[in-house]
Amino acid sequence: MNILILGSGGREHTFAYKISESENCTKLFVAPGNAGTHAIATNLPISVNDFEAIRSAVLEHNIEMVIVGPEDPLVSGIADYFAKDDRLKEVMLIGPSSRGAMLEGSKERAKEFMMRHNIPTAAYASFTRETLVAGKKFLDTLQPPYVLKADGLAAGKGVLILNSLEEAKHELENMLAHSKFGEASTKVVIEEFLDGIELSVFVLTDGKNYKILPTAKDYKRIGEGDTGLNTGGMGAVSPVPFADEELMRKIKERIVIPTVNGIAEEKIDYKGFIFIGLIRVNNEPYVIEYNVRMGDPETEVVLPRIKTDLVELMRATSQQKLDEISLEIDKRSATTIMVVSGGYPEAYDKGKVISGISEIQDSIVFHAGTAVKDGDIVTNGGRVIAITSLDEDFRKAIKKSYQNIEKLSFDRMYYRTDIGFDLS
Ligand code: AMP
Ligand code: GLY
Repeated sequence: MNILILGSGGREHTFAYKISESENCTKLFVAPGNAGTHAIATNLPISVNDFEAIRSAVLEHNIEMVIVGPEDPLVSGIADYFAKDDRLKEVMLIGPSSRGAMLEGSKERAKEFMMRHNIPTAAYASFTRETLVAGKKFLDTLQPPYVLKADGLAAGKGVLILNSLEEAKHELENMLAHSKFGEASTKVVIEEFLDGIELSVFVLTDGKNYKILPTAKDYKRIGEGDTGLNTGGMGAVSPVPFADEELMRKIKERIVIPTVNGIAEEKIDYKGFIFIGLIRVNNEPYVIEYNVRMGDPETEVVLPRIKTDLVELMRATSQQKLDEISLEIDKRSATTIMVVSGGYPEAYDKGKVISGISEIQDSIVFHAGTAVKDGDIVTNGGRVIAITSLDEDFRKAIKKSYQNIEKLSFDRMYYRTDIGFDLS
């Protein structure tokens, strides 16, 4: 069948890489894609939010399956748009309805869902401009650090963790009264701070059945030792070494099953990925957030470990037959290191020629922000390339990625040299 992937990052190149290996895929399209997807698929110059152009492309190219990479089109209702259209409703679309996507699109709605289904998470209260004074009073009752979350989508920047009460009150006011994150911060969730180590669990659900995919740990800060500004993610490791059988049992019983059952009970149309951001405190798991898509760069370590044919897995998801398929996972560890443009996550230049890609051996090159210009591969984003390696343990895999990164170069190239530093 012909398949379309929506998105342009390392996540989408990884999906394209796995799907292009499948004999179930005839023609593969990526919209808008990058230089990596250009080499293995047909890139279509269409924005992920332009539903009408996507509709035309699906009809023109006889596309039978659409995999939605990022959250934006999901929150805007791409699954609902397909379901309502006579010519698109038979297309298998991987991604939840907009109601389902609100688990990521609204922090408050996600918290309410967790409360309804008894899913462990930090205590919270939410406030609007009208209740700003009450919000400040609520902060008086908490211990530092203070966690403030813009309710809506804020491109991963909407969470502030502040040490002083005064600063927390000031930022709460900035968010609510001065629209610090625009529309996204018309409501703010104030949360109890949880002190522990983070991990992510990925679940594929057809709305009824589910499969737990490999775990991963992401390194979000720009600087060594998890310091400096937050980024989309600077590297990832799968599986997470401390996610032992006991922790995974708790996560499954207390979080995964209640989440999938909650989705079914509330009759939410959900055929897609659930990315559960967790924190482990005293060996007990708590949900920090839900995302309604795969993570980036987590995809670059999760998908390469899935041996089951990805198209079959996506088809079973769409047809509500996940119970009929078995999931086979590569036991090896996968690690990825993100190579970024100097300046990221603040201002950076684009259009720098990247050299050395063809010299990389024993690792997989996943393109993130790249483009083809005058026959060269050039930088086209903050996060540029992810180098994924597989080996019998994560240290060996990380070493392989670092050896290969040394072959790459472009002006002001940067990467963290300590991915995995906190794992033993
Ligand atoms: P989120 O966008 O919800 O994933 O939050 C971004 C980051 O803020 C998370 O990855 C955590 O590192 C941190 N964070 C969010 N909520 C909490 C919390 N309640 N306690 C401690 N850290 C948190
Ligand atoms: N790496 C975090 C995310 O994709 O949201």
